[in-house]
Amino acid sequence: MEFIKTEQRENVLIITLNRPNKLNALNRSVIGELSEHLKQNRANDDVKAIIITGEGESAFAAGADISEFQEYPTKEAILMAKRGHEVFNRVENYPKPIVAAVNGFCLGGGCELAMATHFRVCSNNAKFGQPEVNLGLIPGYGGTQRLPQLIGKGKAMEMLLTGDIIDAEQAKQLGLVNYIFPQEKLVDETVKILQKIIKKAPLAITEIINAVNAFYKKDVDGFDKEIQSFGELFETDDFKEGTEAFINKRPPLFKGL
Ligand code: COA
Repeated sequence: MEFIKTEQRENVLIITLNRPNKLNALNRSVIGELSEHLKQNRANDDVKAIIITGEGESAFAAGADISEFQEYPTKEAILMAKRGHEVFNRVENYPKPIVAAVNGFCLGGGCELAMATHFRVCSNNAKFGQPEVNLGLIPGYGGTQRLPQLIGKGKAMEMLLTGDIIDAEQAKQLGLVNYIFPQEKLVDETVKILQKIIKKAPLAITEIINAVNAFYKKDVDGFDKEIQSFGELFETDDFKEGTEAFINKRPPLFKGL
């Protein structure tokens, strides 16, 4: 692994995009390595949640690597977009919580990656935007779909059509990020949020992710998905443990079973 480094803090895996001299731009290798890490850790019981962040103080990721797609014909460009969609869909549908800790420029494909995670937090110097229109392009990794889902059609349309970049405060007002932290505390604070989540029952966590995502899928009825998941969780050991612990006035001990 060349362009991504990882660190594990207790049960939280920190995936750091590591091309700081290119503002962590997402070239093919970064996308490939990210995909590998997701595959490797899906069934790894030591990893209960993931943070994606960027190396350095300047950028989460300043976009897809522009230098790679200068010469692409349509066929290659479509393949590149499909690959990005495949990996970012894997992020969105990952069975364990993934949070983007955005630490600077979060543009183009970087913003699309952050939007594919389950939610976002950022440092106070973070900057968000989809500037592809300035290159005569549109977003190719899901930005035209996920930005309206997250901030509403009108504001998304404006950001996509102008290519304007917004700061951390604006991103928070729009609901694109949940919290703003000082840069030096960003990862620690994100770990704290995830520590709270991973104490809950893992199967319930996965089903919450699946049911919420179902709202945005055209081939699934989200309400049906919720009913099904709700019912299935009644059969789990963790549900029995959670209800028993409540009745006996003690903290639950969840096992993911
Ligand atoms: N793809 C490839 N390389 C990129 C990149 C990208 N998306 N974004 C930044 N880089 C590279 C620059 O080419 C530069 O490399 P160099 O030092 O070898 O010349 C290095 O990262 C630093 O970027 P630089 O532009 O010098 O930093 P800056 O602070 O002056 O400007 C930005 C920062 C983010 C405003 C500017 O880099 C930028 O506009 N990047 C492209 C953003 C974009 O359009 N993203 C969508 C792509 S589809």
